[in-house]
Amino acid sequence: MHRSPDSRPTASPTGGPGTPWWRTAVVYQVYVRSFADSDGDGVGDLAGIRERLDYLDLLGVDALWLTPFYPSPGVDHGYDVADPRAVDPVLGDLAGFDALVATAHELGLKVIVDLVPNHDSNRHASFIEALADPAAPARKRYVFRDGTGEDGAEPPNNWKSVFGGPAWTRVGDGQWYLHLFTPEQPDLDWTSPEVAADVERTLRFWLDRGVDGFRIDVAHGMAKEPGLPDVSRTADAASGLLDDSDERDPRFDVDGVHDVHRHFRRVLDSYRDRMAVGEVWVTDDERLARYVRPDELHLAFSIRLLQARWDAAELRDAVDHSITAMSSVGAPASWVLSNHDVVRHTTRYADGDEATGRRRARAAALVQLGLPGVAYLYYGDELALPNVELPDEALQDPVWERSGHTDRGRDGERVPMPWSGEKPPYDFTTGASTWLPMPEDWADLTVESQLEDASSTLSLYRRALELRREHTALSGESLEWFNAPAGCLAFRRPGGLLCALNASDSTVPMPPGDLLLASGPLGRDGLLPPDTAVWLA
Ligand code: NOJ
Repeated sequence: MHRSPDSRPTASPTGGPGTPWWRTAVVYQVYVRSFADSDGDGVGDLAGIRERLDYLDLLGVDALWLTPFYPSPGVDHGYDVADPRAVDPVLGDLAGFDALVATAHELGLKVIVDLVPNHDSNRHASFIEALADPAAPARKRYVFRDGTGEDGAEPPNNWKSVFGGPAWTRVGDGQWYLHLFTPEQPDLDWTSPEVAADVERTLRFWLDRGVDGFRIDVAHGMAKEPGLPDVSRTADAASGLLDDSDERDPRFDVDGVHDVHRHFRRVLDSYRDRMAVGEVWVTDDERLARYVRPDELHLAFSIRLLQARWDAAELRDAVDHSITAMSSVGAPASWVLSNHDVVRHTTRYADGDEATGRRRARAAALVQLGLPGVAYLYYGDELALPNVELPDEALQDPVWERSGHTDRGRDGERVPMPWSGEKPPYDFTTGASTWLPMPEDWADLTVESQLEDASSTLSLYRRALELRREHTALSGESLEWFNAPAGCLAFRRPGGLLCALNASDSTVPMPPGDLLLASGPLGRDGLLPPDTAVWLA
């Protein structure tokens, strides 16, 4: 590999001292049910997380993001919220939440919580009121419509739910309500001022309790095309992802959604140093950039990197497009390799071979953590946890039922964290069982066993996070690409480290420089083996 740039820097203007924390942070996503259980019921909880905060400190992350812990019937495991300003008794209480935030802050860790503004649970008090009486003011908070066809027996339009099946359910009085996810998740009507006022109350409730930011669920979903026209194109109608066609999906990414984000931003700006990151499922980077204009969200996850295959050109393309789009509006990029909705990258990259998956996952970590912007680690990324093939009877994700058992759903990436010991439940709980079964062969993957092993994935992450602080803190938010052999990529952070990845099948020469860190064993004579990444100074 040569050490001369092959393109002008892809840059955004800021970086360095005085940069707000959220522009460069490493955020650790805690899937609350699966991180640590304090009371033996087999379900992770807030007190369990608090007991394990020392681990996050030791790992060296800057912030944690808690998935929803609000009272919920659990149809979508917390993303069906029955009361957004309380804690589900299964997961703790408000005093426990306050204690968790206080301990995190003592350790210098920021706390981000999930906000679910697109829909409620059907057990939310307002929806119960709305169902009980067609004239109830609460009905205006949801999207109720008369049906079409004879006696209104057909849904108001042809919209599909993202989880499969129609996006409308009929109620006893004959009207239909909209749910872009499960029927237990009625969509809110954001044209109602009551909805906006109520979500503002929720934002302020958690901000006043000291949270440092929000992850906004379905941040492209709140506005619907006025008149709710049919979806006429067929491509990807089920997932809600935009495709390359010019036609806009009337369910998602409708212009009015930006007013919602401007409202959120005004609220956040009335506090100090708070942030919001959006889950925005649009694959067009220019559309994505609209969400992070200076008066909207601070950040939006880069979907491209999450979807890229193990291919240097595809990875580079994802990085390039994301940085270019984000920097066009002055925002840093947000890099994700795994989360609670996608197959873990150790498995995605594996091509059916677990050792290959693990090797690639380690290399991907150096790429992710070497990039400018924000990195999000999904719990267990640092242990190279694979997805788990669960037996049918263990599956709980509504996607499994709603897809008519054709899609196994997302439980495989939500299996509890293995902490220590030789067999399940690996100290995740003091109870006998866990809400999703844990594999028998995870003894070598536990935190305890990986902490003792200098060559483990956990040790690699710890060292990478340490070096990231030293070597990228002052290097701004730009990146410079270098010529690299086919199947490889190499970039440098100006004044900081150089990252090279060999994603090809053959060994290649190493770029010149002092080796800081390698994701795996190097070849003799300093050659870079396949599926390996290095950081050089
Ligand atoms: C996105 C969340 O990440 C996912 O888990 C959830 O099912 C949907 N939004 C609906 O809230």
